[in-house]
Formats: sequence, structure tokens, C-alpha cells
Amino acid sequence: MALLFGKVAIVTGAGNGIGRAHALYLAQAGAQVVVNDLGGTRDGAGASKAADVVVQEITAAGGKAVAHYESISTYEGAQTLIWTALNRFGRVDVLVNNAGILRDKTLLNMGEADFDKVVEVHLKGSYLCLQAAARQMKLAGRGGRIINTTSMSGLLGNFGQGNYSAAKAGIFGLTRTASMEFQKAGITVNAIAPVALTRMTTDLPVMAGMSEDDLGPQHIAPLVGFLASDLSAEVTGRIFGVQGRRIFEYKMEQSDGVTKDTGTWTPEEVKAQLEQIGRF
Ligand code: NAI
Repeated sequence: MALLFGKVAIVTGAGNGIGRAHALYLAQAGAQVVVNDLGGTRDGAGASKAADVVVQEITAAGGKAVAHYESISTYEGAQTLIWTALNRFGRVDVLVNNAGILRDKTLLNMGEADFDKVVEVHLKGSYLCLQAAARQMKLAGRGGRIINTTSMSGLLGNFGQGNYSAAKAGIFGLTRTASMEFQKAGITVNAIAPVALTRMTTDLPVMAGMSEDDLGPQHIAPLVGFLASDLSAEVTGRIFGVQGRRIFEYKMEQSDGVTKDTGTWTPEEVKAQLEQIGRF
């Protein structure tokens, strides 16, 4: 039997790139899919019916899907997203928070609107959809799967992406906390940090010479298939990197550090012990 037969999966930002690949993969694995996308440009402007094209692709291949066009960064958008799944397919088993935009600028050149908009779509959107989905999953009592999308930029930092890396690092924290809070309800929460050739990355110098075969979004979707399925019941709070055919894991680590016997530290002592403090 197909891996996700009988499950209902929601994918945000599924009209293009990685989200589209997730939606197609989950559908061919047997899930009924809500394809969300407001159909804007890379920086979040405008709107179109990009989700319809993916719904048609899924339907043409014999799968079941429905489109949802609202922005996931508003409370109403997140609520109607869940209602769409319930009205059309009767349940919600999987949420993939994938929608995203880019407004790259160095921090000294960044306007407040560029910071707010990127945080709103990535971080607030992930929170709103995660909360709406988890409430429904808890009510239904069947557990669930939530997969967030963070980024190397958020986990390690990246020049020119202060807004984006702040939002993606926030998604790391959201994932960790949600995995703890939802554990009792059997809802797993993990994140992926993908690298793939899409309209978001196609003009990056590091992508030069990369082929669709090496780095296409089709390499990302099977990891999400695993995290969406019963195979990953014990997997929660983890952050998986995926880049082409390589899958790896990110971890936040804490060093043992140095403890003073008595009194408080002086700045000079901190300087003297810095190497030991940072030893892993
Ligand atoms: P993309 O631009 O091809 O797709 C993003 C989709 O999200 C677009 O279809 C867009 O219309 C949709 N979207 C944007 N704002 C939305 C909103 N408010 N409501 C609903 N839909 C909205 O980008 P790509 O590369 O497929 O990115 C997917 C996710 O993966 C993003 O979260 C991105 O930050 C993340 N990511 C991608 C990497 C890559 O190498 N392509 C690297 C690291 C992270």
C-alpha cells in the first residue's frame, strides 16, 4: 500500500519550486493534498493562481488535490487553510510549512518593511499554520506530522540575508519548542534545511554549473515523505539538511564551559578562559 494512503497533507507555497515537488511527491505516495500558494513573485509581490497548475498536475496523474490561494501569514489565511483540508478531505494529518520569500539586503541597507515582510511570511506564517494545524490534530486525537522549513542561512548565517536568517533561525526555535509541547498529542515537529535549484536560488553564484539532476527540488521531497509518514513516529525536534543526494543533520551544541569556584567573573578572566569556554 502507498506510504501515505488515507492521509491528508497541506503544503504551503506549493505553487513553485520545493513546495511543488513536495506536493507532487506526497500525492503520488497516496496523500490527498491541499496545495497552498498566493502566487506572488520571489519578493512576495502580486498574486496569481500558481496553485491551480500543481493541482492539475496531481489530478492528471490520478491523485487528489485542492488549491488554497490565501497568504499563510495572516490568521484568516491559516484558518481557511485548515478548513479547506477539513471541508474537502475531512482531516489533517500532515502540515509542511514551506512558503517563503526573499528580500536580500545587507543590514545597513535594509528598510524596516523588508525585515518585517520576510519575518512575517516565514516565521509568523509558520507559527500561524502550525498552531492551526496542531489544534485540529489534537482535537482529532490521531497525532500528526509538522515539517517546517529552515535554512543554512538561519542556522549558520549568510551575508546579505539578515531578515531571512533571523526568520529561519526563529523557525529553528519554533520547531524545537513545538516538538516538546506537542509530543503528548503524538504530533511530531521537525524541520528541513534544503538546498535546491529554484527561482529563489537560480541566480546565486554557488549554483552556477549545477544541473537540475544534481540539485533539483525532487531530491528534497522524499525526506519530507519520510517525515510525513508513519515511518517517522519516533522522530521529533530534529533539523535535517538536504542538498541533492546528501541528507545530513544540524544540532545546536553547548560546551561544558568553565565554572568558577567562588565569586563572580571579571571581564579579564573571561578573556583568559575564552578558549576553554568555547571548547567542545
Ligand atoms: P520558490 O520561490 O520557488 O517557492 C516559494 C513559494 O512560496 C512561491 O510559490 C510563493 O508564491 C509562495 N509564497 C510566498 N509567500 C507566500 C504566502 N504568504 N502565502 C502562500 N504562499 C506564499 O522558493 P523555494 O526555493 O521553493 O523555497 C521553498 C522554501 O525553502 C522556502 O521557505 C525557502 O526559504 C526554503 N529554502 C530554499 C532553499 C533553496 O535552495 N531553494 C534554501 C533554503 C531554504
